Amino acid sequence: MALGFLTAKTLGLGFRARGAAPALGLGFGQSRSLHTVELPDLPYDYAALEPTISAEIMQLHHQKHHQAYVNNYNTAQEQLEEALNKGDVSKVVHLQSAIKFNGGGHINHSIFWQNLKPSKEGGGDPPHGALGWAVDQDFRSLEVLIQKMNAEGAALQGSGWVWLALDKESKKLRVETTANQDPLVTKGANFVPLLGIDVWEHAYYLQYKNVKPDYLKNIWTVINWKYASQVYENEVV
Ligand SMILES: [Fe+2]
Repeated sequence: MALGFLTAKTLGLGFRARGAAPALGLGFGQSRSLHTVELPDLPYDYAALEPTISAEIMQLHHQKHHQAYVNNYNTAQEQLEEALNKGDVSKVVHLQSAIKFNGGGHINHSIFWQNLKPSKEGGGDPPHGALGWAVDQDFRSLEVLIQKMNAEGAALQGSGWVWLALDKESKKLRVETTANQDPLVTKGANFVPLLGIDVWEHAYYLQYKNVKPDYLKNIWTVINWKYASQVYENEVV
């Protein structure tokens, strides 16, 4: 299943119910369904982003790293269900970090795959229309925005993400960073991710080694601005 347009609503497309848990008479008035997530197919081949991102990186990143976030999130969900049914509050609290980390990893990577597009299919083509205008308005130019995202991504200590976000309240574009696998929503419920760049070493190290700035500089040749424009227009126009 190729992922379609991803929003807070449609991110639920990767979820499936796994049957209703029985009510155990522990104060829960109704039974609940366990919702697990699945690894989405990529909308392009693993080698389609070469030479910017190698097929080896894409395959490992998708099949191993993203799959691990999916598996670990689903396991945590099952444990959470069990803990809730037992009324084990300590376990419920303990599971929150695994749910945040692995659920965030699934959300972030599901967006990231949509943010990339082979150059021969329009990857790297600059944004036009409403988003192109907004970029010029809020950052003066696309070049300034790219420099800002590259600088903040390069300066990020440890692992994390750099985002082009839409603030739904002010209707302004913002550059934000998140640590680890924190999704953008942890910076505020009003932020909508238009573009997220993975700056974990697993995203570039096999090809770029320790030269993260080169990865950040080159990734713009495969950025799917059309997708970012669609998300922007869906929220603003
Ligand atoms: Fe990643």
